[in-house]
Amino acid sequence: MVAAVRVHKTGGPESLTYEDVEVPAPGSGQIRVKQHAAGLNYIDTYIRSGAYPAPLPFVLGNEGAGEVTAVGQGVSDLKVGDRVAYVVTLGGYAAERVLPADRAVKLPDGISYEQAAGMMLKGMTAEYLVQRTFKVEKGHTVLIHAAAGGVGLILGQWARHVGATVIGTVGSKEKAELAKANGYHHTILYREEDFVARVKDITKGGLCEVVYDGVGKDTFPASLDCIKPLGMFVSYGSASGQIDAFNINILQAKGSLFATRPTLNTYNAKREALVKSAGDLFKVVTSGAVKIPINQKYSLKDAQKAHRDLESRKTTGSTILVP
Ligand SMILES: NC(=O)c1ccc[n+]([C@@H]2O[C@H](COP(=O)([O-])OP(=O)(O)OC[C@H]3O[C@@H](n4cnc5c(N)ncnc54)[C@H](OP(=O)(O)O)[C@@H]3O)[C@@H](O)[C@H]2O)c1
Repeated sequence: MVAAVRVHKTGGPESLTYEDVEVPAPGSGQIRVKQHAAGLNYIDTYIRSGAYPAPLPFVLGNEGAGEVTAVGQGVSDLKVGDRVAYVVTLGGYAAERVLPADRAVKLPDGISYEQAAGMMLKGMTAEYLVQRTFKVEKGHTVLIHAAAGGVGLILGQWARHVGATVIGTVGSKEKAELAKANGYHHTILYREEDFVARVKDITKGGLCEVVYDGVGKDTFPASLDCIKPLGMFVSYGSASGQIDAFNINILQAKGSLFATRPTLNTYNAKREALVKSAGDLFKVVTSGAVKIPINQKYSLKDAQKAHRDLESRKTTGSTILVP
């Protein structure tokens, strides 16, 4: 038996139950991993609450890092003792777990378990958003909402690294400082200021090639007014609630815009894509171009508090849970 955080009935943070669970031997194509740390992500709150349904009961958590303790039949590229990290739906909030071997990648020496647990999901998301959903290039201007959040701090550094001017919205002055220390050229306090007016001002009316929006309801449709004609609206999350159905003609009215609602699962569905995405992430992190700020660390048994803090906008950067 190992310590884990399970959900028996979906709901608020109180539905996270710290208890012992059985960990089976790995089946064909699977590995067992002794976890050193698990990542906390906003998507965990959607799954916990039932907004993204999962069969009950389940161990929550989508991301983690640790040491391989057993390999199942047919697994040839990983062995006991390997240091690995992964993104897989469900099972991350546990001291030990089983997962499909083809979702794990070996960790380079320069990346610690805690760093990996804080960056695989958020960092590979930043990778596909900046390199594949919209290819950010030198000279572009980019707006990123919730700039001081987990994805936000990594995305801003990566966009700056490729040469863009990066504008970020944040919920407080402290978060603005943090965003500025992590790649952002300009910050906007979007709870007090009109962010569209500020973007117009900062860009001298030129606007942005792309807006990356993980906030959703509260920043829509104003985000569209920050985008140049033929630019891209990337709605990749909904921390403030889902965007309601919208009339597609609004994209015509705002300048023949493109809009997409991407997910990491689709972009990294194929093993080759996952390995390339993780490799690109490891490269920018080991070179020092992108730092992974692990700003909160909770014991696994305090998962309820971690969720409360995340949902009440108290966290910044990455958060990990340690067994
Ligand atoms: N599509 C994908 O592939 C993908 C992958 C990873 C994450 N995501 C999405 O990306 C977003 C960020 O994820 P994350 O894990 O890095 O979380 P996070 O950004 O660390 O936390 C969410 C942040 O959103 C902001 N926010 C604005 N309105 C909010 C509200 N009403 N309630 C709570 N927070 C609010 C807060 O920052 P301020 O105080 O600065 O406003 C808060 O800190 C989430 O929507 C997540 O689902 C999508």
